[in-house]
Amino acid sequence: MKHIFKPLIFLFVGGLTFTSCKERNVKKSTSKNDTIVQSDEDFRPNFHFSPQSGWMNDPNGMFYLDGTYHLFFQHNPDDNIWGPMHWGHAISTDLINWEEQPIALEPDELGTIFSGSAVVDHENTSGLGDGKTPPVIAIYTYHDADKAETGADDFQTQGIAYSPDAGKTWEKYDKNPVLDNPGIRDFRDPKVSWDEETNKWIMALAVEDHIRFYSSSNLLDWKEESSFGKDLGGHGGVWECPDLIKMDIKNSDEEKWVLLVSINPGGPNGGSATQYFVGDFDGSTFTPDESIAEIGEDHNYWIDFGKDNYAGVTWSNIPEEDSRHLFIGWMSNWQYANEVPTETWRSTMTLPRELQLHKEDEKYLISSAPAGEIKDFRKNVLSKETLKINKTQNLVEKTEIDLSKAEISFEIPDLTEGKYEFVFSNERGDNLKFGYDHSKKEFFLNRSESGLVDFNENFGNKTSVAPRLSDAENLKVHLFIDKTSIEIFFDDGKTVMTEIFFPKTPYEKFSASDHENFSINNLNINQLNAN
Ligand code: FRU
Repeated sequence: MKHIFKPLIFLFVGGLTFTSCKERNVKKSTSKNDTIVQSDEDFRPNFHFSPQSGWMNDPNGMFYLDGTYHLFFQHNPDDNIWGPMHWGHAISTDLINWEEQPIALEPDELGTIFSGSAVVDHENTSGLGDGKTPPVIAIYTYHDADKAETGADDFQTQGIAYSPDAGKTWEKYDKNPVLDNPGIRDFRDPKVSWDEETNKWIMALAVEDHIRFYSSSNLLDWKEESSFGKDLGGHGGVWECPDLIKMDIKNSDEEKWVLLVSINPGGPNGGSATQYFVGDFDGSTFTPDESIAEIGEDHNYWIDFGKDNYAGVTWSNIPEEDSRHLFIGWMSNWQYANEVPTETWRSTMTLPRELQLHKEDEKYLISSAPAGEIKDFRKNVLSKETLKINKTQNLVEKTEIDLSKAEISFEIPDLTEGKYEFVFSNERGDNLKFGYDHSKKEFFLNRSESGLVDFNENFGNKTSVAPRLSDAENLKVHLFIDKTSIEIFFDDGKTVMTEIFFPKTPYEKFSASDHENFSINNLNINQLNAN
């Protein structure tokens, strides 16, 4: 029931931490023996999107048009914590370098602007275009905080805005809301897509503990179709930010529908995370596949098992000749997002990723891969076909690579029982450990000593773990490390772990330890020069 608490957090934390702009430029942190002074910019990522200033959470309204990827985001421009939501806006032509734009949607008399989606209305079904240029339509949730305070339940409604100029400027629809609230407190995050079979717009909406589907011929009038999910999957918290996607199954002619559902709390390692369901959709009802018809609270259908990938959804209007399902998530967790140690800006997005659907042994699985565009920013600094490791060993010299913008990949052949551990570290003694325990078939990521961790007890108190979902003989590891984040794609992205961290000084060493006598094959270490 997060939203009941958010306004409280806003007042409380805001009262404590809000200082003058000047003071806020510098982060002072004291830990046991040292006082360090670090500028916020030391934590600003090199190749991930972060807002210039203010608070950010969910990615919203992503669409592609005429060579440009648009990314909108939940934004509080006036503070570094969650508050009155706006839609911030950024654009990119390569999915890696983002240019922030003026704020797209501001609160109005119907409420603040919560999460939602955007579609290109090619046929002008809404009638909101001029008949020449297709309008872009944003569908979002209005959150009426004043009404919520009165104790009413119907304070979240769905509204739309339209852009005549490919997303540059926006006009709110004058008959908002387009979908009224039937008296349900959590009623939000519309994700709209065009269903080619029934020639209708379909809206997936998060409603407390389930998803509701609505249909429309014009984006203005919506009809309720069905509900899904009350008794299926994780229910440790409220359901949020759905996305209904039709996907080809890799290496087959079959197609399936996939429903992404974010949940908070209730993630596999605590707090926020995104689960998915595979099934069929007939334009009205989502029917889960038999293989998942009974999945309960503990399941393996998570887009990412790390603690920091939430509210992710996919881009709309990707051209057919591309046809990738491009996804981006918010790289944080509601457990501590409001307290992470940056002051002038807060939060970053994950790397844009391509989602793929696989079917193995009658089971479905979604894998993620970093968007291919990242390849254009690589410079190889080290390649080794085979490397023998015995106990602790440095894998790259600090003069060779800047580990605050790097990509590393390798394989471990002939896995044997026991733990394979890899460590990023600095001279201050901060370290970030990850690896694989073959005895348990389990990956792990441990940030308990990664740097600044005690701003919130849920940040570093537990090692995150994730199941291995592949039986391949070789373990493949592919990771991206930026100043404050790591995204690890194990087994070609069949298990993914994404987490953030705040080292007191940048990590400068990458080493392997803990397993006697093993080999690493195809080690590649790349510098990523995105800016
Ligand atoms: C998810 C979420 C959404 C909501 C938005 C508000 O993180 O809680 O359900 O629309 O954030 O900022």
